[in-house]
Amino acid sequence: MDAVLFVANWKMNLRLAEQEQLVRGILDACTFAPQVEIVLCPSYTNLPAVADMTKRFPVHVGSQDVSARHVGAFTGEIAAEMLKDFTVTYCIVGHSERRKYFGETDAEIRDKIKACLANDIVPIICVGESFEDRQQNQQDRIVTEQIRQALHGVVLQEKNRIVIAYEPVWAIGTGQSASPEVAAHMAQVINQVITDYLHDSASRPQQRPCVLYGGSVQADTIQSFVGNGYAGVLVGGASLHVEDFCHMIQVLID
Ligand code: PGA
Repeated sequence: MDAVLFVANWKMNLRLAEQEQLVRGILDACTFAPQVEIVLCPSYTNLPAVADMTKRFPVHVGSQDVSARHVGAFTGEIAAEMLKDFTVTYCIVGHSERRKYFGETDAEIRDKIKACLANDIVPIICVGESFEDRQQNQQDRIVTEQIRQALHGVVLQEKNRIVIAYEPVWAIGTGQSASPEVAAHMAQVINQVITDYLHDSASRPQQRPCVLYGGSVQADTIQSFVGNGYAGVLVGGASLHVEDFCHMIQVLID
């Protein structure tokens, strides 16, 4: 069986010293087991420290974003090639906060996915409907369209891997995660889109894209997602505390 993927998205939190304290706490207190693959996503400025601190542990380093462009005259941007210098193997792409606050478009998200793949970084592509979308019963259509747009023209080679994270916008940071029924239904929808994509494109990845759930995941809800159509979770708030972090990992191991 494949390992469960546990991705910690620390967003724009934690100054360097706080970040080091959190990572030290996790490395000291957590159990590491092959059943769980851990990915830590600090802010850009904390990437070097986290990469260095975790290098002797079975922990991956992920980025929260990447430029859609290749190296060149793009002030303030960070290219996928640069992330590789910090042993980054995963990258969150198209998070709803980026779509909402920074106007990230489907076309940009697609270019970011391509930049990741060209550099052997696994993109974690975030999709999810807003509260209004769900009120209008548009969630299946919205999520389907987001994935189709993100993968339009993207051809996966055998070595390429992608991950799709279903993160309903109304569940992020609200303490109200999707019910197991809602989550299971959306996993089915997403899996159908993946099947159609693999059928229609020339993609031949060795590994089928897997699906994560994200949005107010806690230790007591994690099991209603993992195994229920999801290969893992993307965790924000709860991953900022050593105790909660290790508790969630332990639940996944047990
Ligand atoms: P949350 O964030 O766990 O705090 O809801 C998840 C995310 O935005 O990735």
